[in-house]
Amino acid sequence: MLTRIIKIDPENPNTESIKKAAKILRDGGLLAFPTETVYGLGANALDKTASSRIYAAKGRPSDNPLIIHISNMEMLELVTKGSLEYAEKIANIFWPGPLTLILNKSEIVPFETTGGLDTVAVRMPSRKSANLIIEEAKLPIAAPSANISGRPSPTLASHVIEDFDGRIEGIVDDGPSPIGVESTILDITTKRPTILRRGFIRAFEIEKVLGVEVIDSISSKEVDIPKAPGMKYKHYAPKCELTVVEDILTLNTILKSTLGSKIAVMTCDENKNLYKNVKVYSLGSKENGKEIMKNLYASLRKLDEDGIEIAYSESFIDVEYGETIMERLNRACGGKVIQKNES
Ligand code: TXA
Ligand code: MG
Repeated sequence: MLTRIIKIDPENPNTESIKKAAKILRDGGLLAFPTETVYGLGANALDKTASSRIYAAKGRPSDNPLIIHISNMEMLELVTKGSLEYAEKIANIFWPGPLTLILNKSEIVPFETTGGLDTVAVRMPSRKSANLIIEEAKLPIAAPSANISGRPSPTLASHVIEDFDGRIEGIVDDGPSPIGVESTILDITTKRPTILRRGFIRAFEIEKVLGVEVIDSISSKEVDIPKAPGMKYKHYAPKCELTVVEDILTLNTILKSTLGSKIAVMTCDENKNLYKNVKVYSLGSKENGKEIMKNLYASLRKLDEDGIEIAYSESFIDVEYGETIMERLNRACGGKVIQKNES
């Protein structure tokens, strides 16, 4: 299959390109498009054949539900059931933007889109081109991150091309994703609003709007707190062997005894000169957590592009957005963390 690459100027999206992209979606095709978080692999959320094609293309387990992307509040009404009063209160503040809400689904949404669940994940992206494409398609669009299942999410069109060229109808390229990690997921069907996945919008910001405590399912010890189905799968992993080492001195000791030429360290600008005889990838200054978060997935992909076999990463827990960054990094390394010896 020929994959059409549709270039769009993020500040000034061209109408013809938006129409071309929207037509692919209306015709039941797969279109990768940029959002403010990461690139998504989109299809008509109301068409079960189109939704099923997303799972097949990604190699995604069929019980891992998709997020529906909308461009106006009428679409929210279309895909959900029940009162929207609470959702609207949150949406008024955070939409368009990187927050996904879990709500009860309406009959019109096929179970192929929700992985068999009665609930549905919905968000309104703020990226201009995404919004225009959905509006032009006049359809709610199901879109997981546009990566082969398990790989780091794409923050550049070139990452999508790497995974899907020749396998989907189109890829919209409007440059780098400004946030770089996926949206925060907030379940509001539960008694207490619960974060299922951390992201750019943090619990304390949501608490300010709702005036109630927000549960973080990632740190909660309560077993009955729900988690997003997708969280049980391997995710964000580079092909090389990755380990997080919390203490820099320990990391340097490990490096001295690690043999081989394809060894790398993921670090920050402040520490990048501490490492000798290894390839060093700096994600940015630790004074700028946003920058580190934005560069995380691209750096994980770069390790593979550069043929790295063994990689170590510092911990970024102390930077702004550290909890979100480390949630992703801990899963990218499959939980291989060498902890700081506190004694
Ligand atoms: O920022 C984002 O959210 C990106 C861009 C493209 O919008 N999308 C994204 O989709 O990250 P994906 O498929 O990679 O992650 C969707 C997550 C999965 O962990 C899935 O289990 C969860 O959302 N999810 C979807 N529907 C759900 C539901 N009804 N209940 C609980 N979790 C749900
Ligand atoms: Mg994903």
